[in-house]
Amino acid sequence: MDLPFDGAISAYFETEAPADIRAAVKRADKSDILTASYPHSERMARKVYEKEMERLQIELVKLQAWARESGTRIACVFEGRDAAGKGGTISRFRSNLNPRAARVVALSKPTETEQTEWYFQRYVKHLPSAGEIVFFDRSWYNRGVVEHVFGFCTPEQREHFFTQVSPFEKMLVDEGIHLFKFWLNVGRAEQLRRMLARESDPLKQWKLSSIDVKGLAKWDAYSDAIQETLSRSHSRHASWTVVRSDDKRRARLNAIKTVLHAFDYTRKDAKAIGHIDSGICGGPDIWDA
Ligand code: ADP
Ligand code: AMP
Ligand code: MLT
Repeated sequence: MDLPFDGAISAYFETEAPADIRAAVKRADKSDILTASYPHSERMARKVYEKEMERLQIELVKLQAWARESGTRIACVFEGRDAAGKGGTISRFRSNLNPRAARVVALSKPTETEQTEWYFQRYVKHLPSAGEIVFFDRSWYNRGVVEHVFGFCTPEQREHFFTQVSPFEKMLVDEGIHLFKFWLNVGRAEQLRRMLARESDPLKQWKLSSIDVKGLAKWDAYSDAIQETLSRSHSRHASWTVVRSDDKRRARLNAIKTVLHAFDYTRKDAKAIGHIDSGICGGPDIWDA
């Protein structure tokens, strides 16, 4: 473990962060949205969020009961920059589900042995069995983005990945697995604000790693890698759902709605699920660097 951080994030914030980003974070009120292009000017109020979330939780419970009865297999991939909200979104999906049939897969960096294997191999072992919903907190898309940005893979390995990823996903879908791919999209000032909060909160420090600290300075390299990854792996059979996550509450609600809307489970209450906010949750065209 490479904790604690000795203020590496505050140091980045004070000395290296772009002036406009630093100014936006400094000036911000807790409830301000920091990303100019975000489609709402304020965060969703807690009461509204909690009421909506409770309705969605009831629907998720029904979905899981139906999935277990029918043997349906569901895989949800969560991708996004550090602090985009992957972990928090996954935990809201799972709040009221039977954890045995709603697993999280958050793999560490590949071991030496795994490095000799087919790149997708270690993920295949974790795909859902009948009745399971599996949440991938990061996934095979590491090769498209973080491994590329940090030089953990060669350009050839990445190209090879891009030739395999759509056929790979097509096999999963043809096999009958329901695959969702969520890309959580957080703005630069909001990311920095969350990292600063993690650094100063002993209960959140576990979420930080040296990759996150170094990654802050690589914003543009990440943007290029993400843009390329989204466009090269968005297919008809396995499309990307981009979720703007500057407001965590709207992000969580809309991601859950996306999954619920996709199934015709027993006792489904479509009215309780409600509409997806198309500015928050949509195709790769709503992704914003
Ligand atoms: P997280 O944000 O998921 O908590 P990190 O920010 O530390 O974790 O790392 C981001 C991702 O990069 C993780 O999926 C991790 O396994 C991967 N990673 C870290 N180091 C390496 C490496 N040397 N080679 C390949 N992948 C790596
Ligand atoms: P968490 O500990 O994951 O619940 O995150 C709390 C932090 O999330 C806050 O300090 C804010 O920076 C941020 N946040 C994002 N969206 C909202 C929101 N709608 N309301 C309040 N805080 C939010
Ligand atoms: C989260 O906020 O849960 C993240 O997206 C995980 C991370 O920091 O990499």
